[in-house]
Amino acid sequence: MSSPVKNILCIGAGYVGGPTMAMIAAKCPQYQVTVVDINPERIRAWESDRLPIYEPGLLAVVKQARGRNLFFSTDIEPSIERADMIFVSVNTPTKTFGEGAGRAPDLQYWEKTARTIVRASSRDKIVVEKSTLPVRTAHAMERILSSNGNGLRFEVLSNPEFLAEGTAVNDLESPDRVLIGSHETPAGLAAREALVEIYANWVPRERILTSNVWSAELSKLAANAFLAQRVSSINSISALCEKTNADVEEVARAIGTDSRIGPRFLKASVGFGGSCFKKDILNLVYVCESYGLEEVAKFWQCVLDINDYQVRRFVQTILGAMFNTVADKRIALFGFAFKKDTGDTRESPAIAVARKLIEERAVVVVHDPKALDNARKDLADAPAGSVELQEDPYVAARGAHALAVLTEWDAYSKLDYREIYRSMEKPAFVFDGRNVLDHAALHAIGFNVFPLGKQALKHL
Ligand code: NAD
Ligand code: UGA
Repeated sequence: MSSPVKNILCIGAGYVGGPTMAMIAAKCPQYQVTVVDINPERIRAWESDRLPIYEPGLLAVVKQARGRNLFFSTDIEPSIERADMIFVSVNTPTKTFGEGAGRAPDLQYWEKTARTIVRASSRDKIVVEKSTLPVRTAHAMERILSSNGNGLRFEVLSNPEFLAEGTAVNDLESPDRVLIGSHETPAGLAAREALVEIYANWVPRERILTSNVWSAELSKLAANAFLAQRVSSINSISALCEKTNADVEEVARAIGTDSRIGPRFLKASVGFGGSCFKKDILNLVYVCESYGLEEVAKFWQCVLDINDYQVRRFVQTILGAMFNTVADKRIALFGFAFKKDTGDTRESPAIAVARKLIEERAVVVVHDPKALDNARKDLADAPAGSVELQEDPYVAARGAHALAVLTEWDAYSKLDYREIYRSMEKPAFVFDGRNVLDHAALHAIGFNVFPLGKQALKHL
């Protein structure tokens, strides 16, 4: 039997909603796909060639389907009424108020969306959780959705998204897996099959995993927690490497070649950032505590504690090397995005590093190829004169006492460091928070070089 789904709607046109729906529309011309948002500016940007997010390769995918079977709109309620299947991809940030503030997820956007769906619907629909949610959220959603009083049925599926920013197009086109959780009732299984049928247009069937709703919800939190845990594990080892003259990249290579461990996500860094790792682990910790699993909660909390420690440690290294004072010194920050190939700065370690340096009265000169607009907003409350934003890395470095690499943009390893060295104050320092530069070459030029998890190369 062919699927009853023809019209797909996604509520939330952000980093997940926009790219995932563009891919579905591009791969499945037989479905009408609409993406709605309460933010008219975002919607206008999706309709233009200046998309609201920077993501390599995304514009081509959007253009393939936009105007054919992919539409962006702020007309939320009529779009709900037309839809057979509704993905909900609104933001689920950490709560900043009330019970669980700073830890629990803020589900107000999700709940408001569920209420709008109930209000605007006059027939049964499938509702797909695309946002990352605490395990058992579907239960709460079902209670809201079934409070419609007119006998409508909303089948709730969990279809968490695993794309990473900067590689979203490839992650969506060739995912390691797609996960679909449903209730194991006839209606749940039929809804699950309707969603499997959509992905099967381009994802091999064996990569489309199905499970119960709770496993799907929890798998998303667990996947992010495991990934972040690897980064904290290698970062904790980087601290020990610096004390013992071991080299963290050599250690990572040695342990990563064990096929049980694997080589990926073992790159020591100034810390992980991004909108999700921290909030999802906080969410996991909060859920564990609420079930009385104190030891489990503590275990995952440590992943976050090591991440904060790594940022603090990076700034302490800068201070210690620069004679315990950076007051009135210019420090060029190379990179502000939380990783390369994105303009996103949410939870970027660069924000914390910049703020700590500013507290020490340094002047930070920020360069980033894509994230300067966000950096401006992130540091808007810094004291006058403490922040400069620079589009040219050579100008950013001119007159600086130190460079700190905070994002691993490819361009940074290709700069002319002889010229940069000539234009800087002496002694000149490099703090490589991503280990992307050629440290021996920089040392030979005259820099005092402080890599992460390796011996410093100094002239002093
Ligand atoms: P985002 O903030 O970029 O986008 C969310 C959008 O939802 C915003 O444009 C906002 O205006 C809109 N919105 C909020 N309330 C709304 C409402 N009531 N009606 C219509 N629109 C509404 O967030 P994001 O990064 O796309 O993340 C969305 C979810 O996906 C989160 O739960 C996140 O954890 C998860 N996720 C994100 C990523 C990622 O790489 N960013 C990856 C996987 C999963
Ligand atoms: C992450 C996950 O990789 C995605 O699977 C998930 O869908 C997404 O979170 C989400 O739920 O939002 P993302 O945050 O976009 O994706 O980027 P990652 O590549 O995971 O990097 C996260 C952070 O860890 C970055 O700051 C990155 O620089 C850092 N990192 C990553 C390291 O410091 N070392 C590494 O070896 C890998």
